Amino acid sequence: MQNNTGFEIDNSGIDPQTNFSANAEFADILAANMQRRSFLKGTLGTAVATVFGGSLIGCNSSSSPAPVALPAAVQPPPAPVLMGFNAIATNRLDTITVPDGYTARTFLPMGTPLTGNYPAYREGGTNTGAEMEQQVGAHHDGMHFFPLDARTTGNNSNEGLLVFNHEYCEPATLHQNGPTGLPRPADEVRKEIAVHGVTVAHVKKDANGQFQLVQGSPLNRRITGATPMDISGPARGHAKMVTKYSTDGTRTRGTLNNCGNGYTPWGTYLTAEENWAGYFANTDAAQPREHKRYGVATKTSRYGWETADSGADQYQRFNASSIATDADRDYRNEPNTFGWIVEIDPFNPDSVPQKRTALGRFGHEGVVFAPVVEGQPVVFYSGDDSTFEYIYKYVSKAPYYKATAGGHLLNDGTLYVAKFNADGSGEWLALDYNSETFRAKALAANVEFSSQADVLINTRLAADVAGATKMDRPEWGAVHPQSGEVYFTLTNNTARTAAQLDAANPRANNATGHIIRWRERSAAAAFDWDIFMLAGDVGTATPGTDLKLTADNHLASPDGLAFDKNGLLWIQTDMSGTQQGSGPYGNNQMVVADAKTRKLKRFLVGPIDCEVTGISWTPDMKTMFVNIQHPGDRSTVTKLTSTWPANDSTSRPRSATVIVTKNDGGVIGS
Ligand code: FEO
Ligand code: CA
Ligand code: CA
Repeated sequence: MQNNTGFEIDNSGIDPQTNFSANAEFADILAANMQRRSFLKGTLGTAVATVFGGSLIGCNSSSSPAPVALPAAVQPPPAPVLMGFNAIATNRLDTITVPDGYTARTFLPMGTPLTGNYPAYREGGTNTGAEMEQQVGAHHDGMHFFPLDARTTGNNSNEGLLVFNHEYCEPATLHQNGPTGLPRPADEVRKEIAVHGVTVAHVKKDANGQFQLVQGSPLNRRITGATPMDISGPARGHAKMVTKYSTDGTRTRGTLNNCGNGYTPWGTYLTAEENWAGYFANTDAAQPREHKRYGVATKTSRYGWETADSGADQYQRFNASSIATDADRDYRNEPNTFGWIVEIDPFNPDSVPQKRTALGRFGHEGVVFAPVVEGQPVVFYSGDDSTFEYIYKYVSKAPYYKATAGGHLLNDGTLYVAKFNADGSGEWLALDYNSETFRAKALAANVEFSSQADVLINTRLAADVAGATKMDRPEWGAVHPQSGEVYFTLTNNTARTAAQLDAANPRANNATGHIIRWRERSAAAAFDWDIFMLAGDVGTATPGTDLKLTADNHLASPDGLAFDKNGLLWIQTDMSGTQQGSGPYGNNQMVVADAKTRKLKRFLVGPIDCEVTGISWTPDMKTMFVNIQHPGDRSTVTKLTSTWPANDSTSRPRSATVIVTKNDGGVIGS
C-alpha cells in the first residue's frame, strides 16, 4: 500500500447517504455562466434547452410538491464542502501522494491473475505469453466502474465491473532480459500482444470494506490485441476492410493502443484505438492514403511483430506491404481495421467487441457522451491526439429511448469535425458523403471519395477537406453533468510556430498545453467556445480570466479529463521527456478544478516516470479509481528508475490502478 497518511481505510463511520449533489445548484451555474465573457451571450438558454430537451432538469418548478420538513432526528447531514482538502505540493517521490485525510491503495497491477487457471505473476519478466493472456495487462489507461446494477438502478457502490484499457508495453522490462532483436521470437510477440487491450475485472468489497477481485467470476475477462472483433457500421464489408482473415471485410483481430475510453448511456464500455498506426509496416514505395495519412511505418513496425513467424499469420498480419504475389498472406488492409472506437459489453463475457466505424477512423484518444435526452439523438465527442489533428462530434440518426437504447445508435449517424472561429463561435462541419457542401469541398481539393465508408476510412483526409481547425493534440473530453459544457485537453504542441497561431491554439511552441471548452448552440452545427485554462509554470495566466497558476496547481501537458457527478473537473497530466524528468512540475499529477470559479488544487502526485491517466468513481462518490501508467518508463533490466508499486529496490515497476478513499468515509474531492 502506498499512501502519505499512514491511515488504513476505516469504513466504520460510513453513513448511508448516497446523494451528494453538493456542487452549485443548477440555477447557480446558470447565473455564474451568464456573467462569463461574451462567448455565452445570447446562447445559454437555448444551449441548455438543447442539452436537456427543452426542460431544465434539476430546476424547481411550480408543479414540484412543497418540501416536507423532517424531524431533527432524521435531518440529513450537511452536504460536504467540495474542494475542502489542502492542496499537496509537487514532488519526485516514488510513491502515490494524496492530501491529508485520504488513503491510496494499489489494486490490480500488471500481471495480476485474472482468468482461466489464474497464473501467478512472476517477477523478472518470466511469465509466458500464454500466461499473460490470463493476467491483467500493462499500461493501464482509460477506465470505468460499472456498478453491478448498472443496467437498472446503478446505485451499487460495493460491487461492479472495473473495466480499463492497456495502452502499450515496454519490452525493456516486460521480458526477462529485455526484448530480443529481429526477427522477434514468437512468444515475446504473443506476450506483447497479450498485454494490450482491455481488462474486465469483477470487483467487490470484502468484509473490511476494501475492493478485491472476485476470483473465479465468469465476468472476469481479458480482451487483447488478438481477440476476434466485428466491424460494424458503414465501413463493414467495404473492399478496403477485406483481409485473408475476413474475406468479406466484416471481422478483424484485436484492439491496440487503447488509450482513453468512454461508456455509453446503455451500460457498455468504449475503448479508443490511439497510436495504432505504428504497429503496422508497409514498405511499399507509395503507401495508400488510408495508411500514409495515419503514419503506418515505412520500414519495421514499432515492435517488429510482423517479423515473428509462428507458422501462422497472426503476427505476419502486421506487415501491410503489397504482396499481390502471395495470396495466402494478404493483409494489405489490416491497418484499415484499426483506428476505431470499440464497443464492449462487459456484462456478457461471450460478447464480440464491435468496431464502430460510424465514429470515424483516427488516433482516438477517448470518447465522451453528452447527457442523453429521451427522444433526442445521442451525441459523442472524440479527439484525435496527434499534432495538428482535430476534434470530432458524432450525432446518431435515430433518437435515444432508454427502453431500446443500444449499439445500433453508434452505427448510423453524422460525424462532424470542429472549426473554431476567432470570434469565439464555432462550427461543426459534417463529414457526410451525401452533403453537397462536403462534396463540393472535396471536389475543390481534388480529393475523391466513393462512399460514406470511404469517407470514414479516410476520416483525417475528410476533415482536411472540410476545413477543420488544427489543434494542439486533442486528448480527453469531459461534459459537465449539469450545464452540458464540453471541455477538452490540448496536451501540447511544440511544432506550432508563431505563423500558425489561431485563437483556439494561441501559443507558439506550446510545450505545456491548455484546456478549451464550448457550449452547443440550439442549432446543432454551431457552438460558442473559450479557453478554460492555459497550463504552465507558477504565474501562468489565462487571458480574460482571473486564473493565474500557483504552487498549489501549476501543471503541464493536461491529458486525462473527467467531471465527477458533483461537477468537479479532474485533470491528469502526461508530461514526458525533460518536462517529466527535470521540469518544475515534479512527477505527473492530478489537479481538481471547480469549473465555475476556476479554483484549482493539486490532489495527487504519481510515482517516478509514470503517467496519471484514467479515472472513475463508485456511485456514492466515496471510492475513486485512478490509473498509474508506466512507472519507471525509462528503466532497463539493469537500471530501474522506479520500483513502484513494490518499492523493494529489486522489483520491476508495474502499471496499476490506485483506489483512493477518504479516511472519514466521505466524498472524494471534499
Ligand atoms: Fe495515449 Fe494521447 O495519450
Ligand atoms: Ca492520454
Ligand atoms: Ca498524452
